[in-house]
Amino acid sequence: MRGTPRWRNSGERHLMAEGRWSGRDDRAEPANLIVYGCGTQGRAIIEFLAESGRYPRLRLTDDNRRLWGNSCFSIPVLPPLDAFADAAQPFVCAIGANGARRETIIRLRDAGHLPIAVQHPSAIIAASARVNAGSILMARALVNTEAHVGVGCLLNSGCVVEHHCDIGDFVHLAPGVLLGGGVRVGEGAFLGLGAIVLPGLSVGREAVVGAGAVVTHDVPPGFTVAGNPARILRDRPPGESPGFAGMAAGV
Ligand SMILES: CC(C)(COP(=O)(O)OP(=O)(O)OC[C@H]1O[C@@H](n2cnc3c(N)ncnc32)[C@H](O)[C@@H]1OP(=O)(O)O)[C@@H](O)C(=O)NCCC(=O)NCCS
Repeated sequence: MRGTPRWRNSGERHLMAEGRWSGRDDRAEPANLIVYGCGTQGRAIIEFLAESGRYPRLRLTDDNRRLWGNSCFSIPVLPPLDAFADAAQPFVCAIGANGARRETIIRLRDAGHLPIAVQHPSAIIAASARVNAGSILMARALVNTEAHVGVGCLLNSGCVVEHHCDIGDFVHLAPGVLLGGGVRVGEGAFLGLGAIVLPGLSVGREAVVGAGAVVTHDVPPGFTVAGNPARILRDRPPGESPGFAGMAAGV
């Protein structure tokens, strides 16, 4: 199982269910992959993609014009219009902030480009699990039996998505997050470093779970919780929560 890519398009839920997604088979690993986003999170993703040797014609781009012409791991950073000059380019969006990652993936996908899922060679996906287009698994991330990961998620280093979890689109799990079996995480939620969610609980859409939290009750949509046991810090509704905007704190 180790290191074996098993990308599936579920066609059942989340963006796939809205008919906005192509359902295209994204298991191929195109040599000419484009990485959108060369910030701190992006560099961690670019390094493993470049090291893997699977993408000999890796191209990099970023909205920040100050990066254009610079190199990242010896690969030049191009303006987006140059990187995406051709039609139907496969890409991965390496932006940590959920909202910016969501906006970029949907915009590029609507322009006919192809979000693909990528994984660090040490990440593990159970054969029965599903990871959808545009999601990224960092080193030692685990997605266990019959778990489902939506479109455009970022599963950071060492996070554990246990069996039968259901992770919505554009979720970010920071390094070391542990989700017990059957946990549901709503679209655009952000879970901070080392957060633990007990089995069977729900973290609502655009909710934020603080670093080191132990979540013992469901988290309502848009709420921010922190501590052990986790208590409510903020009770903003979705749309006003920092979850989708992407936590400014180090992501
Ligand atoms: C929970 C979190 C989102 C709150 O951020 P915030 O809204 O800016 O909150 P503040 O920093 O204003 O803190 C508010 C209170 O909550 C406490 N608090 C903040 N984060 C906490 C945490 N993770 N656990 C326990 N208490 C926390 C603060 O000490 C403060 O308490 P006080 O009022 O008694 O002084 C943030 O602290 C956090 O944990 N972010 C995750 C960072 C992370 O993991 N990034 C990933 C990097 S890869």
